[in-house]
Amino acid sequence: MLTSRLSPLYPLTAITVILLVYFYYSLDLEFTPGGFKPQQFTRPPVADGKFDWAKRVEKNPVTSFIQLPMRGAVKIPRIQFRFQEDSVSAARETIEKRNEVKQAFKHAWSGYRNRAWLKDEVAPVSGIARSHFGNWAASLVDALDTLWIMDLRTEFEEAVEGVKKIDFTTTADIEINTFETNIRYLGGLLSAYDLSNGKYPVLLEKALELGDLLYAAFDTPNRMPITRWRWQRARDGENQTAGYGVVLSEIGSFSLEFTRLSQLTGDPKFYDAIQRVTDMFAEQQQVTKLPGMLPLVGNAKEADFGADRTFSFGAMADSFYEYLPKQYLLLGGLSGQYRRMYEHAIDTAKDNLMFRPMSKENVDMLMTGNVYMKSPSDIELDPLGQHLTCFVGGMVGLGAKIFDRPDDIATARKLVNGCLWAHQSMPTGIMPETYRVVPCDNTTICAWDEKKWHTEVARWNNDFEPTASAMKKNKWLEENRVYPGFSAITDRRYILRPEAIESMFILYRITGDKKLQDDAWNMFRLIDTYTRAEFGHSALRDMTVVPPPKSDSMESFWMAETLKYFYLIFSEPDLVSLDDWVFNTEAHPFKRPHFK
Ligand SMILES: *[C@@H]1O[C@H](CO)[C@@H](O)[C@H](O)[C@H]1NC(C)=O
Ligand SMILES: *[C@@H]1O[C@H](CO)[C@@H](O)[C@H](O)[C@H]1NC(C)=O
Repeated sequence: MLTSRLSPLYPLTAITVILLVYFYYSLDLEFTPGGFKPQQFTRPPVADGKFDWAKRVEKNPVTSFIQLPMRGAVKIPRIQFRFQEDSVSAARETIEKRNEVKQAFKHAWSGYRNRAWLKDEVAPVSGIARSHFGNWAASLVDALDTLWIMDLRTEFEEAVEGVKKIDFTTTADIEINTFETNIRYLGGLLSAYDLSNGKYPVLLEKALELGDLLYAAFDTPNRMPITRWRWQRARDGENQTAGYGVVLSEIGSFSLEFTRLSQLTGDPKFYDAIQRVTDMFAEQQQVTKLPGMLPLVGNAKEADFGADRTFSFGAMADSFYEYLPKQYLLLGGLSGQYRRMYEHAIDTAKDNLMFRPMSKENVDMLMTGNVYMKSPSDIELDPLGQHLTCFVGGMVGLGAKIFDRPDDIATARKLVNGCLWAHQSMPTGIMPETYRVVPCDNTTICAWDEKKWHTEVARWNNDFEPTASAMKKNKWLEENRVYPGFSAITDRRYILRPEAIESMFILYRITGDKKLQDDAWNMFRLIDTYTRAEFGHSALRDMTVVPPPKSDSMESFWMAETLKYFYLIFSEPDLVSLDDWVFNTEAHPFKRPHFK
C-alpha cells in the first residue's frame, strides 16, 4: 500500500527517515529528559524597557560549560511499593479523605484568589495581602502544580493567565533571597510545566526569564552564587563577590531546579552554574571539622567551608543534603558524585547526629540533632528537635531504595516515628517548631529514667531544680508545659510546615504501610481544625495550648507542600509516582529522565 503512494520526493523523504532513525538511535545512548524530546527552547524577546538578563555581559564569564552527563544508562532500583488494588470500601474511604484535603486547599486558594491575587500571600485571619518574596505572586506560582495534581483545571488555567503578568526581570525589593526564589518560583514553574506535559509554554518562558535573572547571582570571580543578592548591582554592571558567611542550604540547593532548566531548554549554563558549586563541596566534604558533612555556615567568597564547627540536618543545612540523592535521580544516575556525597554524609550522620530519644512509651524512634565539634575527638550533641529535620526520614528512605541500602528503611521508619511521637506528645497533637529531648546512649535499650529526664530539664532551664520535692518539680513542669521526654520546648509555634507529612508520604509510597495513612489522617484533621481561618489557614503560636492562638500568616508552602503531600498520601500510588518524578524541597515534582 505504501509503495503505491511513493511521491517524486521519495529519495528526499528516505534521507530524512534515515537521518531521523540515526538521530533516534543516537538519542538512545543519550539522556532524554522523560517524556520530552531534548528541547532547544528559544527565548521570547524581552519587552521594551525591560532589562534583558539573558544578554547581560558577564564580568566573570565561563569559558567552557560543564555539560549535563548524557552517556550511559544506569538502572535505578524501583522506589515504590507494589501496591495491590484497594478493597472497594477502603478505596472509598481514602477518596473521601483525599476530597477533604482538596476542600481545605480550595478554601485556602479562594482566600488567596479573592484577597491577594498576584500578591505573595494572603493573611488568613485579616484577609490583607502581603509581599515578601519579590512580589511575584509567591502563593500562586508555588501552588500551580498542586492545582494540577488536584485536578482543579479551571483554577489552573486562571493561574497560568496570572503567571503571564508576572515580571521576573525586576522587583521592588532591594535584596533577593536567591534560595527561596529558586525553590518556590523556579521550582513551581518547572513543575507545572512538567506536569502539564509542556502544554503551557509560558510556564517555561517565565522559568527561563527567572533563571536568567538568578544566573547573574553566579557572576562572581569564583562562580559561587550570592545568596542574599543586591540584584541591581548585577544589572548596573558592578563587580560582585560571593558572601563571607553563607548558609549551607541556601548556597547548596540550586541543583535540581537549574538542572531541570538546562534539560528543558537545552541551555547548558544553568547546569554548569550549579555543578561548580557541587564540585567545591565535593572537594571539601572530607576535610571539614566533621569529615563527611558540611557545616551550617561557610565562606563562599574564598570557597572555604572548613572553619565552622556546627553540623545538622535541620535549619541552615537541610536541603543541601536532601538534594544529593534527588539530583542523582534527576541526572538518571549518570553522576556517581552525588551518590558518593550522599553516602559519606549519611554514614557520618548516622554515627554522630542520630540518636534515640527517651520516652515513657519506650517508642522505637530516632531523631537527628545538632553536633558541635569542640575538637576532632570531642563531639557535643545538642538533642535539638526541629520540625524541619522531619524531612530526613523521607530522604533516608529514598536513599535506601535507590542506593540499595536496605537497612536504612528501618532507620527511615524510626525517624518518622520520632516526628509522630513529637506530634502525639503535644496536647494539640501537632509538634512544635523546635524542642529538646533526652538522648539515650544506646539505640536498642532506652528505658525511661525519670531522674535522667529531670537532670536534662535542669540543663536547659535554669529555674528548674532537679533536687526540689516531687510536688514542686511536677508543678514547674505543668506550669511550663514541658512534657515527659522533653527537656525544653524552645519554639512552640506550628507555621504550617510540611516536613512531617512529607516523610510519611514518601515512606508510605516505599513501604505501603497503611498505618502511615491513618496517622496522616489524624494529623490532617487536627491541623485543619486548629489552623482554619476566614481567608485560609493560619500559622499557630503555641502547640502546648488548646486551642492554639493564630498568628495571621500563611506561607506559600502550605498550599505548595503541606496540602499536596496530604493529598498524595490518600491518592492512587501512580499519581506522581516516585519512580517517575522527583520532588524539589518545595514539593515541586520534576519529571525523571528515562532511558530508552
Ligand atoms: C572589577 O573587577 C575587575 C577584574 O577583577 C577589576 O579590574 C576592576 O578594577 C574592578 N572594578 C571595580 C570598580 O572594582
Ligand atoms: C546497647 O545495649 C546492648 C545490650 O546491652 C548492647 O548489646 C549493645 O552493644 C549496645 N549498643 C551500643 C551502641 O552501645
